[in-house]
Amino acid sequence: MFSTTNTRIAALVVVLFISTVVHASSGDRAIEFVRCVSSCTTQRCDEFEATKPLALQLTRWTCPDDCKYNCMHNITDHAVTDGRAIHQYYGKWPFWRYAGMQEPASVIFSLANLWAHLVGFKQVRRKLSDSHPMKKLYLLWSVCSMNAWLWSAIFHTRDTPITEKLDYFSAGLAILNALYYTVIRLFHLYQPARPKLTSGTSISKPLTLLFIGIYAAHIYYLTSGPRFDYTYNTIFNLTLGVLHNLLWTLYALPSGLSLLRSRFPGRPREYRPSFASKAGLFVALTTAATALEVFDFPPWGRVLDAHALWHAATAPIAYFWYQFLVQDALDQSWREPLLREHRT
Ligand SMILES: *[C@@H]1O[C@H](CO)[C@@H](O)[C@H](O)[C@H]1NC(C)=O
Repeated sequence: MFSTTNTRIAALVVVLFISTVVHASSGDRAIEFVRCVSSCTTQRCDEFEATKPLALQLTRWTCPDDCKYNCMHNITDHAVTDGRAIHQYYGKWPFWRYAGMQEPASVIFSLANLWAHLVGFKQVRRKLSDSHPMKKLYLLWSVCSMNAWLWSAIFHTRDTPITEKLDYFSAGLAILNALYYTVIRLFHLYQPARPKLTSGTSISKPLTLLFIGIYAAHIYYLTSGPRFDYTYNTIFNLTLGVLHNLLWTLYALPSGLSLLRSRFPGRPREYRPSFASKAGLFVALTTAATALEVFDFPPWGRVLDAHALWHAATAPIAYFWYQFLVQDALDQSWREPLLREHRT
């Protein structure tokens, strides 16, 4: 009994996987869909424009958009009853819209992430003293992240070339910022607490210019080409994410294995508070969550897909990460070297 169920589930997973690979995004090219949309736009647009609900007006649904939406669901209905594969349309699975939102689950989870970063922002602001060298960097990253999740919510509400670009550019900025504070934190490149007492050149200025340059080049490349380079954009974000995670892995590794000379200001390599392991857990959770993106499957109930689940997973991870960042920043070691510097 159990084994047949398991076999069936396994077969289903294999079928879903194959159908994903073979039929991805072919729905909008099917003759059935093209015919449906053209007959819909010639027959129903007057009626649609005259009776457009407020939610669809606010989210700027046009008649062709609405026809594509209805045709997509009608064809998917038939596919489901006939047991045929569900197709993607314009690179996306069929989702039920809600109040004009194309992918309500992803919108809600994006807002959950926004909320997690807002809570984190307040924690950093309240718990770190203004003289802490990491405070401004964490707050800056937090603001960039909130901006990114706001645009993610907007993009999943209505997918247009503009909302898509703003979503990608904001996400790129947040990820780059995460790598920026990570490099400054782990290689101790932050400004000392009292810049007036320790004037002179700092390595953090060229580093800042480097990161600004990378971002400018990234945006320039993505906006100057004839087409948006999705592959490059994914590789860019993935590379930054992997670097970020590798650096925090170095921080989390046992002292003997870690390549970092010192985790904390003025402390030897052996100094490793037990909360350092949390960074490793974070890396593991983030990697697992990102793996969800790879297992693309048709959405359950036309509501929940892998991408939405990924957004659902990142919200608690972000909440947890702020707690770690604050704990790391409140370690005793941050106070001692600053005091020492103050005395000399
Ligand atoms: C979708 O199917 C319903 C029910 O069969 C039908 O009334 C409607 O006209 C179809 N919509 C489109 C856009 O073809």
